[in-house]
Amino acid sequence: MSVTQPSINVPRPQSGTLSGPLLVVLAVVVVAGLLFGYDQGVISGALGGIRQHFSLSALLTEVVTSWVTLGALIGSLAGGYLADRHGRRRAVLIAGLLFILGAFLQAFAPSVVILVAGRLVVGFGVGVAAVAAPLYGSELAPASHRGRFVSAYQLAITIGIFLAYLVDSALAANDSWRWMLGVSVVPGILLVLVGAIGVESPRWLVKAGRRDEARAVLARVAPEADAAARLASIEHTLGEEAGSASWRDVFDPRWRRPLAIALGLAVFQQITGINAIIYYANQIFASAGFATPEAQTMATTWAVGGVNVAATFIAIAFIDRLGRRPLLLAGLIGMGLALAVVGIAFLSIDTQLAGGGPTTAGIVTLIALVVFIVSFAFSLGPVVWTVINEIFPGQVRGRAVAVATAVNWGSAFLVSQFFLTLIEAIGTSATFWLLAFFCLAGWLWIWRAVPETKGRSLEEIERSWTGQAAPALA
Ligand code: BGC
Repeated sequence: MSVTQPSINVPRPQSGTLSGPLLVVLAVVVVAGLLFGYDQGVISGALGGIRQHFSLSALLTEVVTSWVTLGALIGSLAGGYLADRHGRRRAVLIAGLLFILGAFLQAFAPSVVILVAGRLVVGFGVGVAAVAAPLYGSELAPASHRGRFVSAYQLAITIGIFLAYLVDSALAANDSWRWMLGVSVVPGILLVLVGAIGVESPRWLVKAGRRDEARAVLARVAPEADAAARLASIEHTLGEEAGSASWRDVFDPRWRRPLAIALGLAVFQQITGINAIIYYANQIFASAGFATPEAQTMATTWAVGGVNVAATFIAIAFIDRLGRRPLLLAGLIGMGLALAVVGIAFLSIDTQLAGGGPTTAGIVTLIALVVFIVSFAFSLGPVVWTVINEIFPGQVRGRAVAVATAVNWGSAFLVSQFFLTLIEAIGTSATFWLLAFFCLAGWLWIWRAVPETKGRSLEEIERSWTGQAAPALA
């Protein structure tokens, strides 16, 4: 099915080499992702030392672990406001400063109260960056590269998680939790530096009434394209939107469809279990027969952390060629089958452990989890963030992306909070089958509801919600 567009003919920047300013934009996106991933991955290794140092109760241990997520939830909403009000680039800068402050607070925390404050500040920064950086990348990338720009963000998240696992195991021996947490000051400083030399998003500049600056930025980022025509297209679309947006506008009936798509994707990305695997991989491998902590850490670092990085390259290679839908649909099949197999494997793991023997089922679990991570890494991981950042109209984009990001963090929090409880209540096998069922539900919903957005400009996508023609479903 093809889409009829109103007759506005905008020359597209050609795909090929990226201009200097675009490389800086890419650097902003990548550094923000690294920070996000590092802060998400590092706590598993730091927790032991922290608990000992401050003699923490179980409750405080949970607070130290999870308040980053709480901070991120609030930070993502604040990030939407900051990005709409003060610009995408400035929001990124603020996130960088928060990271630096949070890293210092954590590394030098004299008491647990200061440590928790540091966790909250870092979480707040993660939330602001998680909204502002992909938004910045998607608004500045040429349509032909947009999927790859946002996938680079996901790639950086996975590298951040992997680096954190590596730093954790390197520093584990000498109780260096302050170093583990403090290291994130380095990407924090980098983010401020690249943010400081980056250009502002021309779409945001037009909205802020700074037309000349917008034209200058367009000419700098894509010297080969016709800046005046690009500006006209952006103005044309923004011109149809009345005034400046409020939070209420995000829920305007006109944007119900993109909002439903973004929220659905945000929720399915989490309830299919990725963070349950990322946080509890060690424990899953332990119950699957990996006896020593070293064997568990090794399996987690490479089978989860390393594979997650490597498989994200598949998305980078194919997201702008094959499109978003094929990757999402194929990935969910792999994830669902892998989870179902883990469920089956755990049926025999329970009996085998009772007999005390080593497990073939353990190896099956390891392979199935690798398949799960690969399938997530080329699909729901990068594609969800790409689509969330490209489907909203310019007027509400910042706040709408913020709402979707906050819902994503909320779902992540719930899943990681209740995964172990669920295992206790209904058993390991049934828990994994439930996650597999969510993959099936996600597949059916995406098949029906999520349009293909590959290769279309943000203005074209925006017009498809209000115009007669619906976006193509294939
Ligand atoms: C998700 C995170 C997840 C990460 C794993 C991201 O897209 O939003 O919750 O931990 O992927 O690679």
